[in-house]
Amino acid sequence: MKILLVYVSKTGNTEKVARSFARGLGGEIDVVKLDLSPEGVLKEFQPKFTLDAGPYDLFCLAAWVMVMKVHPFLALASYIRECRNLEGKKVAVCLTGGAGLSRNHAYEDLLHILEEKKVKLIGFSYTTTLLGLTLTRKKLEKAEQFGQEIRRLVEQGG
Ligand SMILES: Cc1cc2nc3c(=O)[nH]c(=O)nc-3n(C[C@H](O)[C@H](O)[C@H](O)COP(=O)(O)O)c2cc1C
Repeated sequence: MKILLVYVSKTGNTEKVARSFARGLGGEIDVVKLDLSPEGVLKEFQPKFTLDAGPYDLFCLAAWVMVMKVHPFLALASYIRECRNLEGKKVAVCLTGGAGLSRNHAYEDLLHILEEKKVKLIGFSYTTTLLGLTLTRKKLEKAEQFGQEIRRLVEQGG
């Protein structure tokens, strides 16, 4: 199974979750970290660089929440919109946020980001971090278990 994992992380929480998730997934994973920070090269969507989900059986996305929205919504949405061959692919998503309160709002946002591509969202996880203070080993283990579940699902044709 070939997997593409694309993630965004400003202070490292999502990166840790993404790593644990990837450990759980196992196998061959290509990882792309998008630098969408204001300081980063990709401050705005760079049309010269686009993702191609074509060779992959599973597309995974990890991102974080700011002001109750998937962040940075517009830039991420642009990458997803321009991502080639994503239509109909299986997708699993990990979001991190300071508080559980933002979960549902961020989930709705995520659906907006993905809806145009008509992907099959086979899994969603939300990890609370309280800016990193409560990102415990247990939560990272849960992210790893989530990865294992997703692998099982894909292998079973789910
Ligand atoms: C400016 C700012 C705004 C944030 N807004 C929210 C929010 O609305 N809801 C929430 O749950 N977490 C919020 N957070 C917390 C982050 O989502 C959380 O710390 C996340 O794990 C950061 O991921 P990262 O370390 O990968 O960048 C905010 C963090 C920052 C810095």
